[in-house]
Amino acid sequence: MKFFADTAEIDEIKDLAATGLLDGVTTNPSLIAKSGRDFMEVTKEICGLTDGPVSAEVVALDHATMMKEAEVLRKIADNVCIKVPLTVDGLKTCKALSNDGTMVNVTLCFSANQALLAAKAGATFISPFVGRHDDNGFDGMDLIEDIRLIYDNYGFETEILVASVRHVTHVLEAAKIGADVMTAPPKVIHALFKHVLTDKGIEGFLKDWEKTGQTIG
Ligand code: E4P
Repeated sequence: MKFFADTAEIDEIKDLAATGLLDGVTTNPSLIAKSGRDFMEVTKEICGLTDGPVSAEVVALDHATMMKEAEVLRKIADNVCIKVPLTVDGLKTCKALSNDGTMVNVTLCFSANQALLAAKAGATFISPFVGRHDDNGFDGMDLIEDIRLIYDNYGFETEILVASVRHVTHVLEAAKIGADVMTAPPKVIHALFKHVLTDKGIEGFLKDWEKTGQTIG
């Protein structure tokens, strides 16, 4: 399962890249606004921190303007992945860009039928938002299961990118279902490393090691 960081904060991305576990980055207009940085500038900087896909989202609602925005965004770097919303115009744009060999992430997916449409439009990634789905009284993981089943039924190559991840259990469930990618805020990725018994174990081993009076090397 690939791990993407869902953030536009450079320090957080650098920190995760240093672990060797970072496979890409996703941004959205809200995360860009939160960073307070210029969109083009920060996206270029992020693209230099990972070899993996960096999702940059169009903000136009019509196909023609989406294509113009995508043209600007894809010139930023070779690893830019154009993010489009799951609308008729978004999927028209997805089809045109993917026919042209450009990576596309279709975002704001809340139903398995929408995911089916995105796959038919040639999306590289489909982003079902599990956290927002849960918030609205649905089960985000049921959505991931349905999409996995449908994609496997037809051999679609579109990768399931689990988005709007809020906690480590989302990551675990997504991995059990066989989602291809998950994108999470850095604090959730850091939480994956943690276990109280790991900390307690280290403490105990170090206490006993001190008693030996030895050093390594
Ligand atoms: C995905 O690409 C989105 O940027 C993101 O996961 C949205 O998450 P949120 O629901 O926490 O805003």
